[in-house]
Amino acid sequence: MNSWTLSYDGFDPGEEGRREALCTLGNGYLATRGAAPESTADGVHYPGTYAAGVYNRLTDTVGGRTVENESLVNLPSWLPLTFAAEGGAWCEDAEGLDQRLELDMRRGVLVRRWRVRDAAGRTTAVTQRRFVHMRHEHLCGLQTTFTPENWSGRLLVRSSLDTMARNHGVARYGKLADTHLRPLSAELVGERCVLVVVATNQSQIRVAEAQRTRLFRAGAELDVPRETVREPSRLGHEFAVDVTAGEEVTVEKLVAVYTSRDRAISDPDTAALNRLAWCGDFDELLAEHELAWRQLWRRFRVSMRDAEPRALRTIRLHLFHLLQTMSGHTVDLDAGVPSRGLHGEAYRGHVLWDELFVFPIFNLRVPLLTRALLRYRHRRLPWARRAAWEAGHSGAMYPWQSGSDGREDSQRLHLNPASGRWIVDPTYLQRHVGLAVAYNVWQYYQVTGDREFLGEYGAEMIIEVARFFAGLAVYEHERDRYVIRGVMGPDEFHTGYPDAPERGVDNNAYTNLLTAWVLARALDVLRLLNEQSRAELTETLGLRPEEPERWDEISRRMFVPMHGPVISQFEGYERLAEFDWSGYRSRYGDIRRLDRILESEGDSPNRYQVSKQADVLMLLYLFSADELAEMFGRLGYELGPDTIDRTVDYYMRRTAHGSTLSAVVHAWVLARNHREQAVEYFLEALRSDIADVQRGTTAEGVHLAAMAGSVDVLQRCFAGLETRDDALWLNPYWPRELGTIEFDIRYREHSLTLRISGAGVQVSACVGHQPPIRLSCRGREVLLRPGETVEFPEPAP
Ligand code: BGC
Repeated sequence: MNSWTLSYDGFDPGEEGRREALCTLGNGYLATRGAAPESTADGVHYPGTYAAGVYNRLTDTVGGRTVENESLVNLPSWLPLTFAAEGGAWCEDAEGLDQRLELDMRRGVLVRRWRVRDAAGRTTAVTQRRFVHMRHEHLCGLQTTFTPENWSGRLLVRSSLDTMARNHGVARYGKLADTHLRPLSAELVGERCVLVVVATNQSQIRVAEAQRTRLFRAGAELDVPRETVREPSRLGHEFAVDVTAGEEVTVEKLVAVYTSRDRAISDPDTAALNRLAWCGDFDELLAEHELAWRQLWRRFRVSMRDAEPRALRTIRLHLFHLLQTMSGHTVDLDAGVPSRGLHGEAYRGHVLWDELFVFPIFNLRVPLLTRALLRYRHRRLPWARRAAWEAGHSGAMYPWQSGSDGREDSQRLHLNPASGRWIVDPTYLQRHVGLAVAYNVWQYYQVTGDREFLGEYGAEMIIEVARFFAGLAVYEHERDRYVIRGVMGPDEFHTGYPDAPERGVDNNAYTNLLTAWVLARALDVLRLLNEQSRAELTETLGLRPEEPERWDEISRRMFVPMHGPVISQFEGYERLAEFDWSGYRSRYGDIRRLDRILESEGDSPNRYQVSKQADVLMLLYLFSADELAEMFGRLGYELGPDTIDRTVDYYMRRTAHGSTLSAVVHAWVLARNHREQAVEYFLEALRSDIADVQRGTTAEGVHLAAMAGSVDVLQRCFAGLETRDDALWLNPYWPRELGTIEFDIRYREHSLTLRISGAGVQVSACVGHQPPIRLSCRGREVLLRPGETVEFPEPAP
């Protein structure tokens, strides 16, 4: 089995959505689902195309309430291409004999081979290759080669652009407004080109798509007559070409896409036409595209010689989709990390906290990209400040879901498909998203040592988040501790207490502990800045001397709920009813989305000790046991010897894994003491999308955080890579059954190659002139200089 290729044989309407999502091609600027070029959005196929950061808002009335939703916009499809033997049906209406779809991840090319037979028995073999260019981010290409097998005559080919598109990729949103585009123009330009221009109807983003279609036989361009195809929602060309049985004819369609958000252009229309006029042919572009992928894969290399090929292929698939959602092109885009990639319309393309799982992959390979993604957050401080102010606090309250400008865009009502009812959605109470932003800034700084970023942007974000959480924390005399009331933790099953649903819970351990941690980092940040920067920032933010004092106090007196040796998910979690897991499992089978099941029964997860996903256990994902002990110590608590184990055990028995993030976190927390189970969860995380474990959700977009997180389990958990205290730490819990892993990272301007196996760890630094770095493995610390290799053999059992 080839670990670089994902392939599907045959056609299965029930599987089509998932295949399209998994065969999406993209380059960080735009992405197009792997839909068949002749298909239309018909309930089976969904040829979606999305450009990073292109959002639009629409309003609806639901149950007498006005709701406004912002969505990543589905752009006119650039794919349409169909053919027929003259007098016969167009291929979409003819008989498809066999089809093989191959996603070549090494080259970033989707190959489709199939045969089509019309009613007259004329059979044509077809091979299609397509790319979304990884170097020239505005260019997409589709090359189709036809071979008539048993007939000679006229072949008709239609190549067009859609002139309109709607967002209807998610059935649950089906009753809501879906028309984001306004057609502006659709014209033929010169002999070969078509230009389609649309604009989003609220955000006023202009989008231009230009196409050029050419025909070739034996490498020579054919000058055949072309007719205009003008349909209500299509504009293109139709060609008629004489073909002979057994002889190939090739049609090459190149498309350029620009939007008014782009830089270095005058207007999108001219830019698209010029780009097309200046670019080479399909094969030349393909060669450059493949080179760009070769270089990317070099940087994101993960080699596991003895790994099970299926697992390795999925790891590659996960990296592949990550690199297609965010790439070097993102750096100039002002775009965030959409939780479902640029692959579908779930969560409306919103940005949530998922970047917490994504950044570690980029921090260690393309820190410039993380920096850009953090700048996206920095630019949205005005909305976050406004939100904090409206909530009665200072600082910045980052939104749970957002897109264009950083305002809160979480839906206030959602449809439960299990009951058909619209339900109040209070998930915006997940204030912890701001803590994740601050955590990410700190991690970026730890990996890169980039003080310039910290001084210019990072410190401001950490301090503003700290300020907000310091405001949220209230001192309670009886306890002599600070508490945070009325928030939601990562577990979305608990929106409140049974008698007060939708008002949040009190003292979510994850939120409280991270608050204490962020406040301590805010103090560190102030110490790290030089005197001038500190004075300037203090002045700009109007920071009062008593504020850092208060942060210090809260960071030492925050309340952490416990019951016995177990950290409570929130205050009172342990007093909720126990849930009948086996009863529900036998009744429903799949009970990952217990929230939907219970609501449809008129019940609510708020009544039970059930968690959708890792919540308390997130702490063990973000911090090592030593760090957690230190955090508890600072708070004046003792982390008992069995607290971690008992806590893990407690929540393992109460978690439904209704989010794909859960398996990632469980693999992580089990790695230390329960390797076999950890590997099981790791394999489950790998199955998230390729097996569509959430049944139907992959078709609506991939689970980017689970994709990144599963790769991160290898590097930071099993391989035990940590970046803290200005040093690189390696404390592997490497499962021997995974063989040997080799991967490359960048740390403080060094390029390092790490090799980890059951036998030990080897780190090599690339030749260069950087100052040495501190490297610590299982208590042994060394200085590693450019060009050196150091080995840490596994201690004897
Ligand atoms: C999870 C969230 C996550 C979101 C998007 C939800 O199911 O509960 O934690 O941010 O999916 O991935």
